[in-house]
Amino acid sequence: MDKAPVLPAYAPAHKKPRRHGVWRALLASLLVLTLLRLPFYWDLRPHRTSRVPAHAAATLQKCRALDVLPGPPADFNKRTASDRFVEGTKPTLIRNATVWTGRRKGKEILHGADILLDKGLIKSLGHLHEALIQSYDDLVHVDAKGAWVTPGIVDLHSHLGVYSAPALSGASDGNSLHGPVLPWLRSLDALNTRDDAFKLTVSGGVTTALVLPGSANAIGGQAFPIKLRPTQERSPSSMLLDPPYGINGSEVDPSLPPRWRHLKQACGENPDRVYRGTRMDTMWAFRQAYDKARQIKQSQDAYCSKAQAGEWEGLGEFPEDLQWEALVDVLRGKVKIQNHCYETVDLEDIVRLSNEFKFPIAAFHHAHETYLVPGTLKSAYGHPPAVAIFATNARYKRESYRGSEFAPRILADEGLQVVMKSDHPVLNSRHLLFEAQQAHYYGLPPHLALAAVTTTPAEVMGEAHRIGYLSEGYDADLVIWDTHPLALSAAPTQVWIDGIPQLSSPHTVSKPSSLQFLPDTPNFDEETRAALVYEGLPPLEPEHLTEEVVVFRNVDSVWVRAGGGVRKVLFTKQDGSGMVVVKNGEVVCSGTCDQVVSEYSATARFVDLKGGAITPGLTAYGSPLALQEIQGEISTQDGYVLDPLSGLLPKIVEGEIVQAIDGLQYATRDALIAYRSGVTTAISAPRSTGFLSGLSVAFSTGAGHKLEKGAVVQDVAAVHVSVGHGSAYPSVSTQVAALRRLLKGEVGGEVGAWFGKVAEGKVPLVVDVQNADIMATLIRLKKEVEAGTTHPIKVTFAGATEAHLLAKEIGEAGVGVILAPSRPYPAVWEQRRILPGPPLTQDSSLSLLLAHNVTVGLGVPENWAARNIRFDAAWAALEAGSDKSEAIELTSVNVEKLLGVAVSPALSDLVATSGGDLLDFSSKVVGIISPRRGVVDLL
Ligand SMILES: *[C@@H]1O[C@H](CO)[C@@H](O)[C@H](O)[C@H]1NC(C)=O
Ligand SMILES: *[C@@H]1O[C@H](CO)[C@@H](O)[C@H](O)[C@H]1NC(C)=O
Ligand SMILES: *[C@@H]1O[C@H](CO)[C@@H](O)[C@H](O)[C@H]1NC(C)=O
Repeated sequence: MDKAPVLPAYAPAHKKPRRHGVWRALLASLLVLTLLRLPFYWDLRPHRTSRVPAHAAATLQKCRALDVLPGPPADFNKRTASDRFVEGTKPTLIRNATVWTGRRKGKEILHGADILLDKGLIKSLGHLHEALIQSYDDLVHVDAKGAWVTPGIVDLHSHLGVYSAPALSGASDGNSLHGPVLPWLRSLDALNTRDDAFKLTVSGGVTTALVLPGSANAIGGQAFPIKLRPTQERSPSSMLLDPPYGINGSEVDPSLPPRWRHLKQACGENPDRVYRGTRMDTMWAFRQAYDKARQIKQSQDAYCSKAQAGEWEGLGEFPEDLQWEALVDVLRGKVKIQNHCYETVDLEDIVRLSNEFKFPIAAFHHAHETYLVPGTLKSAYGHPPAVAIFATNARYKRESYRGSEFAPRILADEGLQVVMKSDHPVLNSRHLLFEAQQAHYYGLPPHLALAAVTTTPAEVMGEAHRIGYLSEGYDADLVIWDTHPLALSAAPTQVWIDGIPQLSSPHTVSKPSSLQFLPDTPNFDEETRAALVYEGLPPLEPEHLTEEVVVFRNVDSVWVRAGGGVRKVLFTKQDGSGMVVVKNGEVVCSGTCDQVVSEYSATARFVDLKGGAITPGLTAYGSPLALQEIQGEISTQDGYVLDPLSGLLPKIVEGEIVQAIDGLQYATRDALIAYRSGVTTAISAPRSTGFLSGLSVAFSTGAGHKLEKGAVVQDVAAVHVSVGHGSAYPSVSTQVAALRRLLKGEVGGEVGAWFGKVAEGKVPLVVDVQNADIMATLIRLKKEVEAGTTHPIKVTFAGATEAHLLAKEIGEAGVGVILAPSRPYPAVWEQRRILPGPPLTQDSSLSLLLAHNVTVGLGVPENWAARNIRFDAAWAALEAGSDKSEAIELTSVNVEKLLGVAVSPALSDLVATSGGDLLDFSSKVVGIISPRRGVVDLL
């Protein structure tokens, strides 16, 4: 036993010792155990260290594990209980569901199916045997009544828990700024379980999210997939899905394949800006880091080939470095690289990096130019990266300027994997499904649109063996929806995570039965081609028709402005005979117009709306539309006003009031896209980071410049201030004190004069305000000022997230409200008390305010989102039980009323849609009729 007696035990396990087999093996194992457990014992006997070091067994184990690729254990699908099963969770039988399983490439739909959940797993799915059902005596029964069921939504790009809601200085943990390369950081270490957004996100059907560090670093740190339900342990690590290594000191079973790890990388502007470098610096930082990792990997490999050959002499310690081990794992193919990367130049940089150091990229995120360079993606090392994108959020920075709503479809046509992601809280991940709905609207096939938020992200995460599908043996994460999941406004009626229902008393509203079907979306082939031909910048200027008379045929419905509201004019026949005749930009006939048409038939232009509609043009408020082209580029913007409360106001503008009309830039891409989406008017106020903003302007989104006929709708709309908390402001009470002086006529100059008009009730005062306590203060101030005047002051609260808390008082005070955004999110403390709406609450802010007779408008805080106002309106109205006329009012006449804009119905714009009305996923805006501008535009 003196001479290297342990060697046989190190031999591969299948080689049995030939002689005295049992005894030798036993003795050998005993010795190994002794050596492993009692290293000191060995150290006391130096004469025994001649060849094999104490750590030999562990080291050889490590060597063998080096190149074992991650994946589920071979018998994973035979598991009978989930590792996440919570004792006491009752088995559940869901009957009569319409199930989108994700299987058969997303094309399988089971009708009238049953789903049995037990031990945190989907036990059975389809038409179940009675015997199986009878074998349970404690089943919870759920009747889905034919409703749609999908796997839980999976978000591949989230900052839940690291950029928490409400945002507080102590809960912004998404990025370290300690260097461009930080692969040793872990989002798990910052995961705030107290983020208000968890519950909200689950209420949108999201069950799993990959929590990524931010993008301020080239390598920002390791990311972790989590399940979003609350756990009994209440700990961050209890939320983890498949922890990749011993996160708490208990090592994972080394005989099993490892779990996937994730690493966040970023290229382009973000890391460049933070480290004041250039793209060249960032790429060098990458290459330097990966070179270091490669050296460690090579020395490990060299070490292991010697160790495995038994050449321990002088070998020393296994070469490793805790700081760099994650990058070494990248080179060993064990890490999914989630790479924030937008532009062609950056995409190619990373593809080149992947080929230089030989590791694949799991996905490019944001990736606004990927659809323009599919070939670059296909030349990446290993496999083409998936592409994780937004549907319509673009142009917020230069890198996203060429972003296209047709990208999902183009990428899918190229055979690339498409994922829709939230980048929560950039988009509220509660509504991640809306991203898939929009992608579908713009041409992504339905099975791929649903896959883009379920199976595809699960595949890209390396978790598709347990999540992302509905199939026997999968985690019991699923959602019952109140409509078809790709229909606008789809909301869960129940969400299960690990077999546990997440909504304790789900609230539902009744919706039209048409929403149970897949929306029949319009054809965007031409637009898709144009996006490619023009490299993401297709011309957006409309074509003015030259014909004096335009006849819209096959019109199913017409809405018009009437009596301060919007009214539907029904056609008696829905048989294609409905017509709208426009002469010189004005409607001269609608309904059955044969007489009129025959008069002009020789010269008229005919447009077939295919069962479409004519509706009033919508009005945008809340974003700096036409005051900036690119949010992140100050050189493309009007800029910010200097706030008098800041003390920085130069003498030359003291007492002056700033007018947005002077800063307008026409034909910005967002304004033109809004125009093409039926938003024909916008009201913008000067941008301010402080208290006093100035005078807003109402303008035509489709006009080419300010001097064009009808380009300006109203020079001055309202007077704007903002009252709120935040470091850019003096105290709220100081802001109110300033407002009091202004309203009581104690301030001179132009500013004083305009507030004088407010006090006389001639011009509305629009206050950006989120917090209910501040609203209460403002209502008191309004009464105080009105006590000394003869007319009530017109006041509108904009933003107004907490307005529902004072719905009654706001109604009584005659204050109007613009909800912006229309779907609330508790982004900061002063707006944390949101009314989330169904399924979490029966009421929404909108329904409650309407119930108190408050005039409500819906707004959008960001330019890119103006295009979606028609969907925001339809969605909010469905939740509030309002009809389509009211939905249009919320985003047209009401907004104008609340902003002091008077548009005569005869001069207001109309929007022609084909295939449905403006509020539908089935329709497309094809024309704008503008009596004000004297044009009919075809789009
Ligand atoms: C399933 O639900 C649909 C829709 O409610 C209903 O028409 C059908 O009768 C139900 N089937 C069963 C077997 O309950
Ligand atoms: C460590 O984490 C694993 C996996 O989450 C868990 O099963 C185990 O109980 C934890 N151990 C300790 C000591 O917390
Ligand atoms: C709202 O207005 C309606 C109609 O004028 C009235 O019947 C109702 O009482 C009002 N509701 C409230 C809460 O003031």
